[in-house]
This record gives sequence, structure tokens and C-alpha cells, in this order.
Amino acid sequence: TTQPTQEWFTVALNLVKEAGKVVRAAINKKKNIEIKSSAVDLVTESDKAVEKMLISGLSSAFPDHKFIGEESVAGGEKCVLTSEPTWIIDPIDGTMNFVHSFPYTCISVGLWVDKKAEIGIVYNPILEQMFTATKGEGAYLNGERIHTSGQTELSQSLVFAEMGTSHDPVKVDTVLTNLTTLMTKVHGIRAMGSCALNICQLATGGVDICYEYGVHAWDMAAASLLVTEAGGVVVDTEGTS
Ligand code: IPD
Repeated sequence: TTQPTQEWFTVALNLVKEAGKVVRAAINKKKNIEIKSSAVDLVTESDKAVEKMLISGLSSAFPDHKFIGEESVAGGEKCVLTSEPTWIIDPIDGTMNFVHSFPYTCISVGLWVDKKAEIGIVYNPILEQMFTATKGEGAYLNGERIHTSGQTELSQSLVFAEMGTSHDPVKVDTVLTNLTTLMTKVHGIRAMGSCALNICQLATGGVDICYEYGVHAWDMAAASLLVTEAGGVVVDTEGTS
């Protein structure tokens, strides 16, 4: 890893570990919940506290860097990706799980430079799973190298799907139609409630495919690097990577 990337990574990793303590301390307590785009798109005071903590720590270490944060964007900040080093943050991915004290939730921090992923850190502080990647250096879970499964047969694949957070009837219908179409063609379908962690499971080879329509940049900015560094591919709905 080159010098600036190593320094960026170390600072971010330490901040993510600190933020993990906030999530761990709060997960089994009663949450203050607010509703965002739909009745099932939620935010808690912990989402906001973690995002603030990460952005203030990173911006004081790297004053020139830019930020895209889920809760800052929800609060009206612009969501713009330039060529400048940009930290793309989901303070709590799987907020619904967090609200229910279901331990499949994580902090996701990605650094993009020249519009390409440079660093990916995804941390589940409840199950103590730290997923890390820097460009060209492989993907790791708790320091151990991970690889995608290499499965090429759809019929032999375990698939991660997601329901998403929209109750728009057309979206709901599309989600259900996709599930019906896939159900008899694959080994199994799972939906766990954290896009970033799902993508990281793909990087470990634990699932073979992971798909969702309507994800946001912060859901996949970090985890997508885990997948490509683990030997997998990330494509949009047109099949473009
Ligand atoms: C959500 C989760 C969920 C996915 C949604 C995301 P959030 O992120 O990843 O699994 O289906 O599309 O928005 O709101 O909990 O950060």
C-alpha cells in the first residue's frame, strides 16, 4: 500500500473501531427513532452520532477530503462525487436490524479517489467482524484473506436478496416478482437486512450472488471494493462494472 493510502486506512480503521463502541453500547437499549423516506426507512440518534464522529475525525485528520454521508445527505447536504478523495459513509447500515437489536448491522466507510474505490472498511461490532480492503492489496476479514466462491452455476448458488425500504407498489411488485422468478432456479435465497454486510458475505464466498435494486452509494461504496479485491465482480442493472 502506498504511503497516503496506508495513513488514510489507519486513521479510518481506528475511528471505525471507536464508532463500533457506540453501536455496541446502544444496540440493546431503547432507540429514538425517526422516519425518513418511508415508514420503514429509519434513523436513530446512534446513526447521527456515529456519522458525526467519523466525519469530524476524518476531516480534522484530512482537511482537504470530501464527504458523502447517509445522514448528512438526508439532512440536506449535497451528494456529489468528484475526483477528490471522498469518504462515503453509512454510519449504521441495517438500521432496521439495529432498531430491533438484531446483530446483523455495521458501519461502512469507503474512500474513493478519482471516482474509484481505494479503501473499504465494513465493521459489524456486535459479531466482531472487521472487513477491510485497500485497492490492489486483497480483501480481509479480521486480518485473514478472503475470496469469493467462484461458483458459476446459478442452480448451485446461494443468493442474497433484499426487500429494500420502499413501499411504492411498483417497487414492491418488482421485488416480489424477482423473488418468484429466482426461487426455483437457485439453491436458496436469503434476506438479512444490511446491504453492506451482504456484499461482504459475497466477498467471503459465503453467498455466491447478492443483488438489490435501489441501493445508495453509501450502502456499497466500501463493500464493493471487498468484492473486487476478493475476486468477484460488481455490476449495475445493465451489466456494466
Ligand atoms: C439499508 C439496508 C437494507 C437495504 C436498503 C438500505 P440503512 O441501509 O442496507 O438492507 O435493503 O436498501 O438502504 O438505511 O439501514 O443504512
